Amino acid sequence: SNTLKDAYNGKFYIGTALNLNQIWERNEKAKEVIETHFNSIVAENCMKSENLQPREGEFNFTDADKFVEYGEKHGMHIIGHTLIWHSQAPTWFFKDANGNDVSREVLIERMRKHIHTVVGRYKGRIRGWDVVNEAILDNGEWRKSKFYQIVGEDFIKLAFQFAHEADPNTELYYNDYSTAIPAKREGIYKMVKQVIDSGVKVHGIGMQEHNGLDHPSIEETENSILRFSSLGVKVMVTEMEISVLPNGRPNMGAEISDRVAYRKELNPYVDGLPDEKMKELGARYKEFFSLYLKHQDKIDRVTLWGVGDGDSWKNGFPVPGRTDYPLLFDREYKVKPFVQDLIELG
Ligand code: XIL
Repeated sequence: SNTLKDAYNGKFYIGTALNLNQIWERNEKAKEVIETHFNSIVAENCMKSENLQPREGEFNFTDADKFVEYGEKHGMHIIGHTLIWHSQAPTWFFKDANGNDVSREVLIERMRKHIHTVVGRYKGRIRGWDVVNEAILDNGEWRKSKFYQIVGEDFIKLAFQFAHEADPNTELYYNDYSTAIPAKREGIYKMVKQVIDSGVKVHGIGMQEHNGLDHPSIEETENSILRFSSLGVKVMVTEMEISVLPNGRPNMGAEISDRVAYRKELNPYVDGLPDEKMKELGARYKEFFSLYLKHQDKIDRVTLWGVGDGDSWKNGFPVPGRTDYPLLFDREYKVKPFVQDLIELG
């Protein structure tokens, strides 16, 4: 077989994040690639709370509906992302009419209404939801988000409960980044264990895998796959890409001339990716896919965070205005040479 989804059939789903530019009439090339290689999709932005409920009680499902219809039309395994997250949440969610933080009761009620409305709308149509996103810090402690500050640790358990009430047959996941950092791994392990021990079902842990050429190590990634699956949950790779750019942030306090020079240093491949870097990228993807194959009994899905390099959020994060090459398809949606190796590996 010559497609990713066929090569990994029976092992794990091969997914991609979708944004609007890719799915509608606008982009035939992208659509062809999506429909050829992927059997799972996740919403890059259109199911985040600031987009679904920009004002209290005013839901906007236009784009999310199209996203779900597209996945159904092509028989894809559809993932919802994300119900409770400190980021891309509307500010009203945490505030009363005077701009003060709402009470615990009010926030819990808002969580319930949001989750019931959103999960309920797509009941039976979404295979799984990222219920809570990014609640644990790299040092293993709780992120001091508004949800944490106002509701306390229970907000996690409540979110999973509400999602289960709204669609008892959908799968429920906890999702986070940098999950190979040992302290963070243990923080996530403890937190999810607490939820499970309280009798609330968690079906999976998502490892985002926003990776680079030199981080994280395969070994620590494997340690996390093993640790998470020891909880009896599925593990999934939910937002993978491998940035080829140097890590770093421009020092906004530096002299303008230094900032300009440093910006160039952080953006070395504006005119194209040198062959040897493309090879390095391919080798790195192969290492990760080999690891996932080794643990195919634990891994349910491997989702890339986008289709073509031009669509990747990595062109804008953590440094804006860069040219990155982190995905499997180039800016014209042409398949990169190393993808054939990934297909043969599967
Ligand atoms: C990113 C999107 O890709 C961007 O388009 C958006 O501007 C910001 O969010 N962790 C997540 C994703 O869970 O939702 C984020 O997606 C990337 C980091």
